[in-house]
Amino acid sequence: MLGVGEMNWPASVTIKEVGPRDGLQNEKVFVSTEDKIAWINQLSGTGMKSIEITSFVNPKWIPALVDAAEVAKGIERVPGIVYSALVPNRQGLERALEADVDEAAVFMSASETHNHKNINKSIGATFPILREVVQEALSAGKSVRGYVSTVFGCPYEGPVSVDEVIRVSEALFDMGIGELSLGDTIGIANPKQVQDVLDILLKRFDARKLALHFHDTRGTALANILVSMDMGITTFDSSVGGLGGCPYAPGASGNVASEDLLYMLDTMGIQTGVHPEKLLAAARFIQDKIGRALPSRNLQVGSSDENG
Ligand code: HMG
Ligand code: MG
Repeated sequence: MLGVGEMNWPASVTIKEVGPRDGLQNEKVFVSTEDKIAWINQLSGTGMKSIEITSFVNPKWIPALVDAAEVAKGIERVPGIVYSALVPNRQGLERALEADVDEAAVFMSASETHNHKNINKSIGATFPILREVVQEALSAGKSVRGYVSTVFGCPYEGPVSVDEVIRVSEALFDMGIGELSLGDTIGIANPKQVQDVLDILLKRFDARKLALHFHDTRGTALANILVSMDMGITTFDSSVGGLGGCPYAPGASGNVASEDLLYMLDTMGIQTGVHPEKLLAAARFIQDKIGRALPSRNLQVGSSDENG
């Protein structure tokens, strides 16, 4: 077993901000369109190179993001930043193209029950729908990202076999996605499990095409990121303030907080290009709009310092 000093850290990491989508989709408080736009504009000034701004899903399923088109059309587009949005089907893609997002993010689960609860289809019935979306998005000149949820466990079925993860991941890569984000949807993974799963996946998939998406429900997200980096992963999804959770995964809570991840990477000397104070300011902004303390540790350290 390797000691911490013998682990391999990358020189740089890409942090993908998913707060405006994953963060807000599960919030009871409706953040106004104007505030969402102001917040995303603020995030664009933090040095983040990829921001998932909203979802073009059925607004009856996700009312918090009913204003997807207004948000996508209202934000300032900073050259060099990829503005991405979740797209579940052709109707979603048409809306996303009309709002001119840069990237379509398609998503499905490695477990049948979560896939059904989340997108109302079996895994088998989801493939042809996403294949069409990916092809059309690519022909429209957009990049396409894929998500596999419940990689490390399902809220309905429990353990998920790595073979199922491979099957769904291969299908998504065959469709033409450029990057695959592996989701610990309910924040159940532990570092040993992450090593075991990545050990298998990295025999089939290029580490440079994989991202890890950890929710921090049980406090293991940073430890999971650490072992993922050691295994060659250099892209991680996170959410300002630690906002987030899947409404169709009972008990799911926020993504790892962007500023907690940034603190760890910065102090380890790993480059991200993200500015910590600007990120904290964006976290304070959304905390204020949500109206309660968010899970982010660094955000709370900042506020208790200020309060003495
Ligand atoms: P459905 O009900 O099966 O859809 O939902 P349908 O095709 O049968 O159509 C039914 C109605 O939905 C119709 O309207 C359609 O027009 C409408 P009606 O005639 O009843 O008025 N509809 C749409 N409206 C707007 N935009 C659309 C759209 N599609 C259909 N794109 C559907 C299927 C996939 C749409 C639905 O299940 C849905 O919206 N699900 C989204 C759930 C969701 O957003 N979950 C959270 C995101 S995933 C996540 O958080 C995990 C992740 O973070 C990674 C991780 O953590 O693991 C990514
Ligand atoms: Mg998520």
